[in-house]
Amino acid sequence: MITVDNKWKQLGYIDEPIPEGVDIKAEIRRMCKEKNAVIMAHYYTDGEVQDIADFIGDSLALAQKAAQTEADIIVMCGVHFMGETNKILCPDKTVLVPDLNASCSLAESCDAKEFKQFVEAHPDHTVISYVNTTAATKALTDIVVTSGNARKIVDSLPADEKIIFGPDQNLGGYINSITGRNMLLWKGACHVHERFSVEKILALKQEHPNAKILVHPECKGPVVKLADKAGSTAALLKYSQEDEATEFIVATESGILHEMQKACPDKTFIPAPPEVTEQVDANGNPVTCSCNECNYMKLITMKKLYNCLKFEWPYIEVDPEIAEKAIRPINRMLELSK
Ligand code: 13P
Ligand code: SF4
Repeated sequence: MITVDNKWKQLGYIDEPIPEGVDIKAEIRRMCKEKNAVIMAHYYTDGEVQDIADFIGDSLALAQKAAQTEADIIVMCGVHFMGETNKILCPDKTVLVPDLNASCSLAESCDAKEFKQFVEAHPDHTVISYVNTTAATKALTDIVVTSGNARKIVDSLPADEKIIFGPDQNLGGYINSITGRNMLLWKGACHVHERFSVEKILALKQEHPNAKILVHPECKGPVVKLADKAGSTAALLKYSQEDEATEFIVATESGILHEMQKACPDKTFIPAPPEVTEQVDANGNPVTCSCNECNYMKLITMKKLYNCLKFEWPYIEVDPEIAEKAIRPINRMLELSK
C-alpha cells in the first residue's frame, strides 16, 4: 500500500520530478503492461496525452469503454466527473485521475443540494442529467445523457412526459429546439463553450467562405444556429472526416483539433476564437490565445500521468450510497444508447 504524502493530498496530484534519463512515454507504457492498466483520454486533453492513450473518445464512448474494460486500473485522462462515472461503473477497479483539481464548470454549476430542491419542486417530472455532473447530482437523476445521445434518449420518452433537464441550459435549449419539447432547464453552463462569439465566427467565415462550421451544442443558441454540423466531439470528428469540405471552423474546445488534424492531415481546421482572448493557463497565468481551451482538461499532463500510474494515486472514491443511486441512471443511458 502506497502512503500518500500530505503535501500531495493538498496539491491534488503528485509533483515528483521524473527521474533523470527516464523515457517517460516508454515508462508509462511499461507500467500499463505491468499493472494491467488502461489509459483513456478525452479529446480535450493535450495532444501528447491523447497520443499515449489506449483509447480516446467523447464522454459517451469513454463511459461505454469503461463499462467493458478488463483492466485492473483505469487511468482517466479527463475531468473528475469522468473518473467518477468510471468508478461508479467499475466499483472494484482502481480509477485514477492524474489531477483531482480537474473539475468542470458545468458540473460545478449544479450543486446537488440545490438541484434536489428543484427536483422536489417538480415531482411529476422525469429528471435527465447531462453526464457533466457530480455523482451526487446523478444520484437525483432518472436518466443520464451525453451530448452524443441526448436527442435519442429524449425522443425515446413519451411526447407528453414532463422533463427536467440539467445542468446545461444550452444543450437543453438545443434539444428542446430540435425535438419540439419544452423541458424545464437548469441554468448551468460551460465557461469554455459559452465564450464563443457569433461575430468572430462570422468574420472567420468571411475569410474562409468554403469552410464548414462545426459547433458543440454546449455553445449558446445563436452560435449553434451558425453550425453546418452541431454535435458531440465524436460526432464533429466523424463529420470532419466524412464531409467533402477541406476547411472547418471548429467551435468547441481546441484539443479536438489534434485528432481532427491527425485523421485528415490535408484538411484545414481553424479554431473558433473566444469572445475574450485573455485566458488563464492551468497555473492561473494569463495567456493570450486565439483558440478556446478548457483549463481543467489541460491540467492533465504527461508528468502527472506518469506519477499517478507510478504511485497509483490520485484515485477516485465515490460514497457507496451515492454510487448505488447514481449507477441506475448511468446504466439506463448505456441501455438506451445501444
Ligand atoms: P462530449 O460529450 O462531446 O465528449 O463533451 C464533453 C464535454 O465536456 C464538453 O465540454
Ligand atoms: Fe466541463 Fe466545459 Fe471543460 Fe467540458 S469544456 S470539461 S463542460 S468545463
